[in-house]
Amino acid sequence: MSDDRWSRTAVKLGEVEENRREAFTEAVRSFVQPNREDHAIDLGAGTGALSFALSPYVADVLAVDLSPELIAEGRRRGSAFTNVTFVEGDARDLDVRRGTYDLAGCSRVLHHVDRPEMVVASMARAIKFGGRVLVIDQIAPADPLLAVELDRFERARSPEHRRLLPDIDMRALIEANGLVMTRTKFTEEQRNLAWYLDLADCSGDARREAEELAPPSSTALVGWYLAEKRLPAA
Ligand SMILES: C[S@@+](CC[C@H](N)C(=O)[O-])C[C@H]1O[C@@H](n2cnc3c(N)ncnc32)[C@H](O)[C@@H]1O
Repeated sequence: MSDDRWSRTAVKLGEVEENRREAFTEAVRSFVQPNREDHAIDLGAGTGALSFALSPYVADVLAVDLSPELIAEGRRRGSAFTNVTFVEGDARDLDVRRGTYDLAGCSRVLHHVDRPEMVVASMARAIKFGGRVLVIDQIAPADPLLAVELDRFERARSPEHRRLLPDIDMRALIEANGLVMTRTKFTEEQRNLAWYLDLADCSGDARREAEELAPPSSTALVGWYLAEKRLPAA
């Protein structure tokens, strides 16, 4: 077993997913309005939050993640979701045929990836024309100096953190792939600092540093983006 943040926190992340499952499923259903025939793919699926939320409303979901430990935890908790299949894979370099899926999503993944544009490109490539891409992630403040401070805190909490993207970058990444934005929404998430640090198994010197760098507000802004792959104009 590897000793990265994900393997150390797989059980905790699975618990959080299960506690939030009902509310998240309803939020995903109403935002995405999935179709029963949809074949969906969830990139950076972790323990399966987005896959399980989509599962009752689509034909099937392929849940892809880099971490074998998170996949194992997702499989253990999600055995009732028989149309969800977990596989190991890199969201930046997906091994799927172009135009296979109706819906591709990633939830809370882009800020963990060195090259987030490659994940969005993977999703755009994986879907058919008429298919849709869903991105859910914490949004960086528009002020770049505040964004740098917030990233410093997030990296002290969890070295896997790369960079929160501001709304403008999210839109640019999505639209750069020929996708047309059809719906957005923003929600505020209250985070108790101790709980949030525990969730990343942040302890010792790293915890003290994170506590010092913690933003004054315990509210995180989460953006939801839904975009469609349209046929190129003739
Ligand atoms: C914060 S977790 C989110 C998990 C899940 N999507 C959720 O909403 O609970 C970030 C996930 O991204 C995964 N991840 C990071 N980089 C990845 C990559 N290049 N390919 C696939 N998964 C990746 C991690 O393994 C982890 O499961």
